[in-house]
Amino acid sequence: MNDMNPNPGHATPVLPDAQTVTQVTHWTDELFSFRVTRPASLRFRSGEFVMIGLMGDPDPKTGRAKPILRAYSIASPAWDDELEFYSIKVQDGPLTSRLQHVKPGDQIILRPKPVGTLVHDALLPGKRLWFFSTGTGFAPFASLLREPETWENYDEVIVTHTCRNLSDLEYGRRIVEALRADELIGELIGDKLKYYPTTTREDSPTVGRITDRLRDGSAFADLGVEHIASETDRAMVCGSLAFNLEMKEVLEGFGLEEGANSDPKHYVIEKAFVD
Ligand code: A2P
Repeated sequence: MNDMNPNPGHATPVLPDAQTVTQVTHWTDELFSFRVTRPASLRFRSGEFVMIGLMGDPDPKTGRAKPILRAYSIASPAWDDELEFYSIKVQDGPLTSRLQHVKPGDQIILRPKPVGTLVHDALLPGKRLWFFSTGTGFAPFASLLREPETWENYDEVIVTHTCRNLSDLEYGRRIVEALRADELIGELIGDKLKYYPTTTREDSPTVGRITDRLRDGSAFADLGVEHIASETDRAMVCGSLAFNLEMKEVLEGFGLEEGANSDPKHYVIEKAFVD
């Protein structure tokens, strides 16, 4: 792709919101992550999302092209010089069918208006923080796990990630493994971190949906921790719509109430990217 043009093959002027891709990693046939330059003026809270995308094809009638934008959680922490994103590849998806082919030097569009509910401000103080994710719903937690506030605010942080296959867990597993060696937060973590990956369509040390394992108590037994309670526990949830709805039911069953930026409570939920 031409360095200066987010719409190769078309004489589209350079967009003011263009950012340059610096790194791309393909994790599986269906998952990839990439890093882009960060606009100097962009401030965000770890866990928030922005709209990113590419220029679409020109309209045959008007000859004008419109950007195809989707909400993507920023997977890098607020202190990072660059921005990282974690994405699925949908072969006939309007955006990811093309986004999956970006290479370092290419440009993407990034609207610098971060928003979202998976932020510390939306939770009341607590002792233990849970991050519940499926698939690319891990992305906001990749940011929050590298955010010092996460470790300063809680005595214990438990990260769960449910995917179909073991290879789908790899991006998250690498981030979790790298935390202890991280210059900034390695020391803050101590023994606060517990990681609980599960698979549903391939054999692994822990098989099954996290929702089922919370309901039958096996997740607590495996982790050697107390059941969830509103006095101590706070949670952030990010995955498919079906997963989010089920987690809402599970967490409310433990007595937790949903919070928001304007009304902090015990847990918050956000839908992961769907193409
Ligand atoms: P399952 O394989 O049993 O459907 P997907 O790739 O479809 O987005 O799913 C990602 C992971 O989320 C899969 O492991 C899937 O399990 C799990 N999952 C999907 N829906 C739910 C749900 N309602 N509750 C818990 N886990 C779910």
